[in-house]
Amino acid sequence: MGNSSASLPGRHIVLGITGGIAAYKTPDIVRRLRERGADVRVALTHRARQFVTETTLKAVGATLIEEQDGPQGMAHIDAARWADMVVVAPATAHFISRLASGAADDILTTLCLATEAPLLVAPAMNRIMWEKPVTQTNCRRLVEHGTMLIGPDSGPQACGETGFGRMAEPASIVHAIETFWGPRSLDGVRALVTAGPTHEPLDPVRILTNRSSGKMGYAIAAALARDGAEVTLVTGPTTQPTPVGVRRVDVTTAADMLAAVQEHRQDGCDLFVGTAAVADYRPEQASPGKIKKGPASLTLVLVRNPDILSEVARWQPRPYIVGFALETERLEEHARQKLQEKNLDLVVGNLAGPGTGIDSDTNALTLVDSNGSVSWPSDTKIALAQRLAAEIARRLNRDPHGRQN
Ligand code: PMT
Repeated sequence: MGNSSASLPGRHIVLGITGGIAAYKTPDIVRRLRERGADVRVALTHRARQFVTETTLKAVGATLIEEQDGPQGMAHIDAARWADMVVVAPATAHFISRLASGAADDILTTLCLATEAPLLVAPAMNRIMWEKPVTQTNCRRLVEHGTMLIGPDSGPQACGETGFGRMAEPASIVHAIETFWGPRSLDGVRALVTAGPTHEPLDPVRILTNRSSGKMGYAIAAALARDGAEVTLVTGPTTQPTPVGVRRVDVTTAADMLAAVQEHRQDGCDLFVGTAAVADYRPEQASPGKIKKGPASLTLVLVRNPDILSEVARWQPRPYIVGFALETERLEEHARQKLQEKNLDLVVGNLAGPGTGIDSDTNALTLVDSNGSVSWPSDTKIALAQRLAAEIARRLNRDPHGRQN
């Protein structure tokens, strides 16, 4: 991970430290940044001072930001302008919640709000606090607003528990900072991603649909864009906000989705990722008027929708095609069947169940290709999407850093 050469010459990094036990690792972050040529200023919250001393941070070359330092006590504005990047590590659940709500009630939150520099946040907390929906919602809101998150990692925690919540290691944090300014692994890749459900009308007021929230597909679109890809997201109806840097095309039915995909083919497509839960069948005919209550039973005639992935697999030149498979049993077997039948390069399988698959914030994935399969354990959809983007980059053989997954 990274190296000690001056990969960050003259870069201005503001390191914000909040009050978690992982703060004891921050002098290591400062040391590594300084070794790479960066200039580091540090802002500590009141609680952070209980975990790491100013003396230690100064000893490794950091300059402390104090409110009284700046002109007319405007140190936060001065540092916000000076920064090429603001990094908050560790970021406690409390700090993340304040940041997500737009608070500006101490030097660090004010600095984060006042800066135009990219913001990288490394959450660190007890695993139950991390898993709480409110924390996940706060993190999602930060990502939607363009904040980059790194970690948390899984492992033993200071509280004696084991799970996700450990701050990403200093080496990983510094590597993420280095790669932000380096060439990105998907630079120049044109990606088309489908997401969300489709709505197939039965009559003017009723539809046939499924429970897809769009979370998985939007997270993938965001992760691909973050890694440098030019992303068009063709999406069925969802309440998800458009990820930063992604071009979004809204559609309703499977037929609309196919038409939008075909239309964007002419822009060029190197990578196609089908995460949408496309209705396999639609009503043969949508009634022009509301279907009235009548006999005790009603038979609906459904007809097959076109298969978008199979269509894309016939394109010449053919993009690299990643399909998804949502199953309730025999995940790998069914995923492999889809790989072959739809002529795909990779199928990402997920199970419909508590905390996985459709309409949840977390998932667990099984990647199946012609060489075999690998399973990734439960994680947030955001984290899994980032891992999948890195895996796709590796497969496209375009990762200039040879990043390992
Ligand atoms: O949106 P979320 O709530 O976050 O949930 C995410 C998800 C569960 C929807 C997602 O992870 C997922 O698994 N998406 C695929 C769901 C699905 O419809 O699987 P499938 O096994 O029916 O389809 C297999 C593949 O063919 C999928 O890539 C699908 O997009 C594609 N397909 C299916 C039908 C069709 N007519 N055209 C297609 O291209």
